[in-house]
Amino acid sequence: MISIDNRPIGIFDSGLGGLTVLKTLSEIYPDEHFIYIGDIARLPYGNKSPETVRKYGEQILNYLIKFNVKLAIIACNTASSVFIDETTFNGLPLFNVITPGAQAAFETSKTKRIGVIGTRTTIQGHSYKNTLLKLSPDLFVIEKACPLFVPLAEEGWLHGDVPEMVAESYLKGLRNESVDTLILGCTHYPILDQVIAQVMGPDVNLIESGKVLARILKSHLSDSSKQQGTIKILATDMTQQFQMMAELILGKDKIFNLELINL
Ligand code: DGL
Repeated sequence: MISIDNRPIGIFDSGLGGLTVLKTLSEIYPDEHFIYIGDIARLPYGNKSPETVRKYGEQILNYLIKFNVKLAIIACNTASSVFIDETTFNGLPLFNVITPGAQAAFETSKTKRIGVIGTRTTIQGHSYKNTLLKLSPDLFVIEKACPLFVPLAEEGWLHGDVPEMVAESYLKGLRNESVDTLILGCTHYPILDQVIAQVMGPDVNLIESGKVLARILKSHLSDSSKQQGTIKILATDMTQQFQMMAELILGKDKIFNLELINL
């Protein structure tokens, strides 16, 4: 007998970047219900200490548990980096984006020269690099924190001189090291993928960790009913910009409920 589990899938990020992961998930699994938490009030996580990010993450996971979610996805790379070794939280199955992102980069790279970009906390924690080197100690891995990409993505400033100059300045070192694969190790970077691809050149593969996780999740989901899934977006602060960007990222045709919450 096929077991049906209609409980929602929990997913969280510090802000709106994780909506890129939610979008992919809802496209691949249209009959699943999703509860997304964006911790807008405390964004950014990427320049906070691992201890603080851990505390925020635990609060959010405990909040999701109250919704009886069947699993939780940490879409935020910075938060993923502090939960990297855990597969459950208080009994709830937990998925981070770093492990599948590193695995996909390892499988994609031909030259075994891999670049990783992320927030300061993600890069300083070396979670991608360590995961990659566990897969093969012979890999060449170069890391670079790109903190200004987050406000550019939040502002929707995706094209033109400013993002191009910022991207060139951050990425030229990785390009000069001839990496053939670049991990976009932050929820916000896929929003800037065009300018990143332009600076890195056509021969460099860009890996979106969240998308990789979304694709491999299938094996962890038992069949749900064939009803239309729902999307609930909960945010710790509600700004016009967040609402506008949520529509932009998810697409105008996606129906979702937005709600302000207090953790
Ligand atoms: N969500 C964060 C990440 O993926 C980026 C934004 C932030 O710094 O909070 O690392």
